[in-house]
Amino acid sequence: MSLAVASSDRLVTGVQRVRGTVRVPGDKSVSHRAALFNALGDGVARITNFSSGADCGSTLKCLQQLGVNLRHDRDWVELQGRGLRGLQEPDDVLDCGNSGTTMRLLSGILAGAGLFAVLSGDASLRRRPMARVAEPLRHAGALINGREGGSLPPLAIGPSQPLKATEHRPEVASAQVKSALLLAGLYADGVTRVVERAATRDHTERLLRAMGATVRTEATTVSVEPVERLECVDVEVPGDFSSAAFWLVLGVLHPNAEVRIQNVGLNPTRTGLLTILERMGASVQVDNARDVAGEPVADLVATSSRLRGTQVGGDLVPLAIDEISLVALLGLFAEGETVVSDAAELRGKESDRLAVVADGLSALGGDITATNDGWRIRASRLERGRAESQADHRMAMLFALAGAVGGGAEIGGADSVAISYPSFWADLERLTSDRA
Ligand code: S3P
Repeated sequence: MSLAVASSDRLVTGVQRVRGTVRVPGDKSVSHRAALFNALGDGVARITNFSSGADCGSTLKCLQQLGVNLRHDRDWVELQGRGLRGLQEPDDVLDCGNSGTTMRLLSGILAGAGLFAVLSGDASLRRRPMARVAEPLRHAGALINGREGGSLPPLAIGPSQPLKATEHRPEVASAQVKSALLLAGLYADGVTRVVERAATRDHTERLLRAMGATVRTEATTVSVEPVERLECVDVEVPGDFSSAAFWLVLGVLHPNAEVRIQNVGLNPTRTGLLTILERMGASVQVDNARDVAGEPVADLVATSSRLRGTQVGGDLVPLAIDEISLVALLGLFAEGETVVSDAAELRGKESDRLAVVADGLSALGGDITATNDGWRIRASRLERGRAESQADHRMAMLFALAGAVGGGAEIGGADSVAISYPSFWADLERLTSDRA
């Protein structure tokens, strides 16, 4: 059960059981892309099951400032494409809120589209690394600047000469960087290539292809040809695997649990957590598998499981980048030791997740130590305590689960769940209510 305390604090008590069926919001990554790319298309697009998270709301507001006509109601968006070169110069700063995806993908688009625009965001976003997009975009001929030489927002992007066809080899495996470079590549004077260190989510490639662009993937190299036009397409957004992940973990961790999550996107570049759960011996069933608008979708059922410790690192990390923090919690309930490595990227997310996870779970009695690039975790008995989310949505939801399966938790910055999952607290209440 969770009780509201101060506006941004939340108290979660240990729960007796976890039962029921839940539908999570539409996928955040796919929603951003469906809105951004269709804005560059010719025609009209209807996007259904659009994410209710505040991040995707930030994308829509930026698009409106760029002259895009759209209607947005509950879980759908209808928007009129402006064509590849039809965006209007905004008359004020574009506020990307808390959303790194909005800022990085828009940087790629604006670099190519040849408008002057300034991109900024909240205090967390203004601390996040931007050189990873600014430098390669400049290398292709874009004019882009920002604080500390373009390393930090706000970013200012100016009209430039047509971009040059470029081969990029980003140092970090990041779908946001790959996407920004591919989007800029739509405007280049030849084929743009991105050679990734490891495969990352491929929603950009799938949607650009569906809109008529020529995008080729060979192992971890993706190339895009410049285009004259893109065709608007309707998108039915699958449920967000990254939100479903919280219920999967709650289901396998609680000793009296069975939870069904309906309509979850299972794009293989997103489901590293399923591989990790399987290795740990968790019971997760995939039901009713189908294809929705080119993305695999299914219902997932998670039940109480006995877990063993595991090692997570290497190419698996980008495939579970937003779920890796949950492995820290799983490790506290697994036999033996769990070690996560190669996850230094987590220090540059909405918060420094390596530190925030270690501090929060330690405060709840967990035996966890942060390393340079991950954690060492040992089986523990969790007690009541206070965990600070640092206003990071995924941290607030992680600590809520820790409280529910342990001895309770007071969570600071609990309102942040609205970034990706506004109904999280209501769904937790329902799934853990004694009356369910
Ligand atoms: C995202 C890519 C990932 C992920 C983020 C969404 C995307 O970020 O963490 O939540 O939609 O492309 P990075 O590209 O920084 O790894």
